[in-house]
Amino acid sequence: MIRKATEKDIVEIIKLGSILNTNFSKTYDISQYLKDEKYIILLNEDDGINAFIIVYKNIDYFELEAIAVNINFRKKGIASRLINFFEEKYTKKGDSILLEVAVNNEAAVSLYKKIGFEIINIRKKYYDQIDAYVMKKVI
Ligand SMILES: CC(C)(COP(=O)(O)OP(=O)(O)OC[C@H]1O[C@@H](n2cnc3c(N)ncnc32)[C@H](O)[C@@H]1OP(=O)(O)O)[C@@H](O)C(=O)NCCC(=O)NCCS
Repeated sequence: MIRKATEKDIVEIIKLGSILNTNFSKTYDISQYLKDEKYIILLNEDDGINAFIIVYKNIDYFELEAIAVNINFRKKGIASRLINFFEEKYTKKGDSILLEVAVNNEAAVSLYKKIGFEIINIRKKYYDQIDAYVMKKVI
């Protein structure tokens, strides 16, 4: 099922995040995020948490801060479903969602384009030496 995370999920979220990014627990303070009421939406099946997104509200727009799908579960529409769940439950017509993505992250850039995000800017050397696209979707 897709649902919002609670404190009970923190260990599993960090476990999944750390497989994908060794700096995950330093970069993302999941415990604090929950206290700050950031939106952490996850896919929780019988075998555990296999995907999550992190979104926060920044004054007048939403920022998609992180997205991760367990490698064995990719290309099954899960990331799209999580973002769609967030949009349906927490946004209204006219709201904007923004994100940054490394220009060479083909999977992520294709995903975002497919679900309606557009490139609105390029930030030079945003990730070390790699440029980032700023992408935006208006609901
Ligand atoms: C990017 C990521 C979240 C996509 O998750 P996913 O659940 O596999 O995505 P979906 O199945 O919903 O894919 C939807 C569309 O995205 C595109 N896409 C997804 N993976 C792709 C890939 N490896 N190559 C090319 N296009 C891809 C396709 O257009 C796909 O539609 P299709 O299956 O009809 O072709 C996943 O690959 C991931 O966790 N990557 C590591 C973490 C990461 O890079 N996060 C983004 C940082 S901004």
